Amino acid sequence: MLGPVILAASRSDRMRRFVSAAPGTKQVVSRFIAGETIEQVIPIVRETIAKGLEVTLDVVGEDITTAEQATAARDAYLELVDHLKVLDLGPKAEMSVKLSMFGQALEGGHELALANVRPVVEAAAAIGTTVTLDAEDHTTLDSMFAIHEELRKDFPQTGCVIQAYLFRTEEDARRLASNGSRVRIVKGAYKEPASVAYQDRREVDKAYVRILKTLMEGDGYPMIGSHDPRLIAISQELARRAGRKLDEYEFQMLYGIRGDEHLRLAAEGHRMRVYTAYGTDWYGYFMRRLAEKPANLLFFVRSMITK
Ligand code: FDA
Repeated sequence: MLGPVILAASRSDRMRRFVSAAPGTKQVVSRFIAGETIEQVIPIVRETIAKGLEVTLDVVGEDITTAEQATAARDAYLELVDHLKVLDLGPKAEMSVKLSMFGQALEGGHELALANVRPVVEAAAAIGTTVTLDAEDHTTLDSMFAIHEELRKDFPQTGCVIQAYLFRTEEDARRLASNGSRVRIVKGAYKEPASVAYQDRREVDKAYVRILKTLMEGDGYPMIGSHDPRLIAISQELARRAGRKLDEYEFQMLYGIRGDEHLRLAAEGHRMRVYTAYGTDWYGYFMRRLAEKPANLLFFVRSMITK
């Protein structure tokens, strides 16, 4: 019951101000956010890679309100590419982007987001890595998929995310499970109405498995974004049945969540990528992590009280 309330709070400016100023917030946020600056996150990238893992880096931010902010988002990613170039990690360090941060919700936003994200995808390709377009709320997805298709004409390795909780996703998966397409499947983290999304967690899990099967049996590149031990075991079995080798799919988990599992899967020979978020505009990302596991909220409240 708490999850939807926290997700509603994630859209509130008043709550944003309250949470950002609360004592103890920084300590809890640092579990999920790898740093506020690029200088803080680069050593974490190095450490993660040294453990045999890979990363996808996310500069946090969404729901911007001006074209200048969208340009600043593009520049933040271009600066990240400059740092990754020095590390010379190729596809071991890729990037995830939210198109809302590139201006998608502004007037003329579809074109603006495409114009802002293209140079980032280009710069990533020039250093031998890729970009994956995150999935946000359902109203943004037609535009996201159209931008994905457009970018893939020149950069076929550009990935996208699909969300198992949405009714539309099984059809999206059938369309995307081809032609080397890199597709991350996740359960879905936004507050969605019953008209477009399953509300029952068991229904979401069942849809996840059906979609996984489609992706595994297709000829794209599935990226399994989940910490759920049952779904991970099912993914391994479906990959085996589809005759996929270990380098023909990968697992992805979030920084700060089930770190032991990151290492276990990598030790088994799996490609394991850690979604590593950093930056100062962490509020929306942080609140979605609280909503996924309400026990995190108790921990957060306790840290405020004991400060
Ligand atoms: P589930 O929520 O059932 O969790 C399984 C177990 O994992 C829990 O029992 C708990 O142990 C642990 N766990 C999960 N979340 C936790 C948390 N916040 N804190 C502590 N423990 C936690 N969503 C989206 O809508 N668009 C996107 O683009 C992405 N991108 C993305 C990338 C990657 C790499 C991942 C792993 C996830 C996303 N997500 C996402 C988020 C996704 O939709 C989903 O909300 C979370 O992954 C939680 O779902 P699980 O599959 O982990 O299962």
